[in-house]
Amino acid sequence: MTSRIDPWSSQQYADYNRLRHQFGIEAFDPEGLPEPTKLFRRGVIFGQRGFDSIKRAIDEKRPFVILTGLMPSGKMHLGHKMTIDQVIYFQSLGAEVYISVADIESYGARGMDFSLTKRLAIDEYIKNYIALGLEPGQVYFQSERRAVKDLAFVLPTKINLSQMKAMYGFDGSTNMSHVFSPLVQIGDILHVQLEEYEGLAPTLVPVGIDQDPHIRLTRDVANSFRVYSVRKDDEGKWDADVGIFVKTNEDVEKHIDRAVEMLKREGYADCKKNYGYKAIFLKGVDDDDVEKIKVHLLELERKTNPYSFFSPASTYHRFITGLTGGKMSSSVPESAVFLSDEPEEARKKVMSAKTGGRVTLAEQKEKGGVPEECVIYELFVYHLMDSDSELEDVYKTCKDGTRMCGNCKKQCAGLMADFLESHRKKVEAIDETVLEKYVKWD
Ligand code: TRP
Ligand code: SF4
Repeated sequence: MTSRIDPWSSQQYADYNRLRHQFGIEAFDPEGLPEPTKLFRRGVIFGQRGFDSIKRAIDEKRPFVILTGLMPSGKMHLGHKMTIDQVIYFQSLGAEVYISVADIESYGARGMDFSLTKRLAIDEYIKNYIALGLEPGQVYFQSERRAVKDLAFVLPTKINLSQMKAMYGFDGSTNMSHVFSPLVQIGDILHVQLEEYEGLAPTLVPVGIDQDPHIRLTRDVANSFRVYSVRKDDEGKWDADVGIFVKTNEDVEKHIDRAVEMLKREGYADCKKNYGYKAIFLKGVDDDDVEKIKVHLLELERKTNPYSFFSPASTYHRFITGLTGGKMSSSVPESAVFLSDEPEEARKKVMSAKTGGRVTLAEQKEKGGVPEECVIYELFVYHLMDSDSELEDVYKTCKDGTRMCGNCKKQCAGLMADFLESHRKKVEAIDETVLEKYVKWD
């Protein structure tokens, strides 16, 4: 049983429900999202933390941010595409886009030099993102963004070394630059909410499960800088609907008074102060009010504390299986389809991929294939087949033994080659003037 997730290992993950429960990740429900794309409809995105804040922003047409980062350690493959597919979708719903080139992390954790990561980031990743449909946003470099590095230094007063060791398995021999890199990622995720960037705004970070330790750490840090916490009176202890608590020990009365003033101004009249409990007890509010009050409290805090943030939200996607059955990895070229692969090369890789087919044709006809364990089927689900009914047809005919792997692979290889061919044309059309609309050199 995994007790820890290591963001820098090549570990594979299989049982997502178990992981979800083990780490307290909520299930993802695409219900109510406008025109959800295939990754959402098909359960490839299986988990979330705090997604309700994003959902509300979408429903109420309020500003929100989607942020991701990339470690330019090699060429971009289909596994990397899933994050950017989500970024593009949320951008179409109005999100501001931030993309961090994690050159400090690449340096600290992988020893890669800064000039190489810059070139790889633009040529191997950003151009592909644009060709996949990303509209202009902010692509920036960790090493060049002052605000990110400042936050990485300022916010970790709330984290200690034992926590870092327990979360990441760091020990006495870990180089300090590596120890520092998750702190820079906290800076990435939270800096967008500084006044000089987007200001207070719910922020979504789409990730694979390997990044969850960073997400938990960032959410913990954001919470630890908060002045107020809001709790519903579920057990009827306080003779109120909700209690608002002051978490610090300084200026308690001032914090309470200011919050009550704000609440009255917003029309919530029935509030009782209790300095002894460091609390305000509120009556006559429903769930919707509670959510609004939380946002008002955050805005109130922000007036005096620049480090008040919305706790960032995250989504978790399944990892795509490599063509050879293990992990899809840049360091194992035959396991991956790279976005820069020649269509012919990709066709060959697909034709030799591991399927869920039976040993003989006769057995396949009799028992049917196992799409759940088939890399080809996964490629249809994640990337190559937009139509749900067409996909359902593949599933059914595979199961009932009327579909044979040879033809099925040919269909897949054809779709893949077509995709790569048109993708390449789009990449080739990207020149400096296009890139300028995306990349901020700070
Ligand atoms: N750690 C991420 C990776 O290994 C890269 C990254 C850096 C990132 N900053 C981020 C991801 C912020 C999400 C959000 O791929
Ligand atoms: Fe996979 Fe297609 Fe073979 Fe079914 S028929 S196991 S989906 S390759």
